Amino acid sequence: MFNVKKRDVMFTGIQPTGLLTLGNYCGTMCNWKTIQKTYQCFFCIADLHALTSRNNNYIKNSFSTTILDMVALYLSCGVNPNDSTIFVQSDVYTHSQLYWILSNFVYFGELSRMTQFKKKLSINKTRINLSLFCYPVLMAADILLYQTNCVSVGLDQKQHIELVQKIARRFNSIYGDIFIIPDILDFSRQCKIMALQEPTKKMSKSDNNINNTIFLLDSLDTIRFKLLHSLTDSDPLSRIKYDIFNKPGISNLLLILSFLTKKNISVLEDEFKNYRYFDFKEQLSDIVCDRILKIQKLYFKFRKDEDYLIDILRFGSKKSLIYSQKNFFNILQALK
Ligand code: TYM
Repeated sequence: MFNVKKRDVMFTGIQPTGLLTLGNYCGTMCNWKTIQKTYQCFFCIADLHALTSRNNNYIKNSFSTTILDMVALYLSCGVNPNDSTIFVQSDVYTHSQLYWILSNFVYFGELSRMTQFKKKLSINKTRINLSLFCYPVLMAADILLYQTNCVSVGLDQKQHIELVQKIARRFNSIYGDIFIIPDILDFSRQCKIMALQEPTKKMSKSDNNINNTIFLLDSLDTIRFKLLHSLTDSDPLSRIKYDIFNKPGISNLLLILSFLTKKNISVLEDEFKNYRYFDFKEQLSDIVCDRILKIQKLYFKFRKDEDYLIDILRFGSKKSLIYSQKNFFNILQALK
């Protein structure tokens, strides 16, 4: 019925918990256009994961404003819906079913060691729900359900993906080669974009200080302001050098530039070796604004046509359901 070509599978997802950031873009989205040429791609809108933090104004409606904003941004970053699949996680019931099965193959100790969970626990000790604890198991279900060969995620998700691999191996060791062991795509493996004012912590959608985060839908003036005022290190002489321990601010800006230009950090260090911080930041702002302007132009075009966005989701959900049901059936058979 659906023409799913026999190619290796790439799976990725983003939570619809607010506006997407430059961290999301560098960590995964900036490569989406290219990876579609090689892989059969599934781009998930992970709304069930978003339920784990109930303070997010998550709306249980597949066609909510936030979800449609995300679809328009996915398209603006180059996802071709005729070739790849965009879908909402909660529209495809097999994800939650496999989640329950896989939760039998992961231990309490393993989930307790997840750094993202530990961080959330340290902030709020009393109101931690079970779903936050089990978050990586649902990720495992998302990924393993599609016989995924690789995932596109930033460095912050590395530990979760390693756990997914462990769960798959454990299952396979009992039931035979049921799951493919997924790997992280090389390009994003090392990507962790840090907060602009506090470059020792991750850039995040939910940061209280908006100057820490560049949103893909920020105005260009705002983006320029945030970058020009980003915290840099107080060396007596400006040195554009990658050194995350002694120069986290400049290192973070170099990392952003490296992901946007696809140039190695060492090449950039050389290119900017005679620049003052301010001039470097100006150049970086030009490059970031140029890229984001292209995304925004496409975004506003796609976002106007809601029927088109809804059609993409309807088609994507059907396709993901059919594709995943086949794999899910094989998993159930193995358990019998
Ligand atoms: P989320 O929404 O937290 O992040 C989505 C993607 O953006 C990347 N990312 C970053 N990369 C670099 N620097 C940053 N500052 C930064 N902030 C975010 C994340 O690494 C991620 O790739 N739990 C997943 C969503 C998900 C998923 C999946 C991903 C659900 N199921 C299955 C892959 C496969 C998450 O991190 O969402």
